[in-house]
Amino acid sequence: MEDKAFVAIRKVSKLYSNNKLPAVDGIDLSIRQGSFFGLLGPNGAGKTTLLSMICGLLAPTSGSISIGPDSVNNRKIRNNGLLGLVPQELALYPTLTAGENLAFFGAMQGLSSAVLKNRIKACLEITKLDARVNDKVENYSGGLKRRLNLAIGLLHEPKLLVLDEPTVGIDPQSRNLIFASLRQLNNEGMTLIYTTHYMEEAEQLCDDIAIIDSGKIIAKGTLDELLHDNQCQSILFRTNNPLSSALIEKIAALPFITKITSANSKTEILIGNDSSNSNILADVLESIKNTGLDITSLTMGATNLEQLFLQLTGTQLRD
Ligand SMILES: Nc1ncnc2c1ncn2[C@@H]1O[C@H](COP(=O)(O)OP(=O)(O)OP(=O)(O)O)[C@@H](O)[C@H]1O
Ligand SMILES: [Mg+2]
Repeated sequence: MEDKAFVAIRKVSKLYSNNKLPAVDGIDLSIRQGSFFGLLGPNGAGKTTLLSMICGLLAPTSGSISIGPDSVNNRKIRNNGLLGLVPQELALYPTLTAGENLAFFGAMQGLSSAVLKNRIKACLEITKLDARVNDKVENYSGGLKRRLNLAIGLLHEPKLLVLDEPTVGIDPQSRNLIFASLRQLNNEGMTLIYTTHYMEEAEQLCDDIAIIDSGKIIAKGTLDELLHDNQCQSILFRTNNPLSSALIEKIAALPFITKITSANSKTEILIGNDSSNSNILADVLESIKNTGLDITSLTMGATNLEQLFLQLTGTQLRD
């Protein structure tokens, strides 16, 4: 993940003037050309702040970011069409039609009218908005707006597309369409930086992943590397009767257990990454047996990305 950085983020921090703690705190990341890079983190982790700095919309307090040979601070990089941004907050003019929005943003990108006409057609096709091109955006559903937001980011055929939660609030149909479009663009060579709160999206799409929390990187690698390196395990079991709160507390207090969720008769336990030499399963089973409950089914396995994410970032609510 470190070799051949296309986007090189070096010791980047950002302290907003009215805050005590930095929103981004000494981040080092290398993003390969052609990768589909997932940037994950809880609310307030610093994802949008980092993406804004990658796009040159916000200056780092310290550190540097370059894309290819050029620093992002360099005015050239902001004007050469290398970068496209699909922002977290929809950036659309509601009283204009989709076609008018595309024409406006394309002109802002400096596309000539002949090029723009072709690109509008291509982007409408990629996002399947052709049939709604003459409708005002204020009458669009959430899914149509997200797709138009994406179409605008693609207009100038950027080499690097930065997407900040592009699938918030949309139905599975629009989501699948966006996934298919992004995979296609990535296969054609576009580098993508993708932020989402949906872990299964990152599992399906991203070949490299970084998890950030409180402005710092807490894990990075491919999905396999993340799951393997952290060696997280889960135990999922059902009992003939629900676990009492005293038993849940007792199990939670056993060593290496990082999380226990128990509802009705179904219980899931996440086990920490430094537990390889201890027999947690035996300890858990022992505590259950002593209460007279019967286990009716049990699976033990590696964790998925969501479990790993919770394990690494904890369950405390964020802002
Ligand atoms: N303009 C700003 N001025 C001051 N503080 C800010 C500003 N923008 C963001 N922050 C703070 O910086 C931290 C990181 O915010 P940021 O929006 O980058 O997080 P995020 O990971 O994108 O969160 P979310 O998942 O909710 O979009 C938060 O504590 C946030 O309150
Ligand atoms: Mg954000």
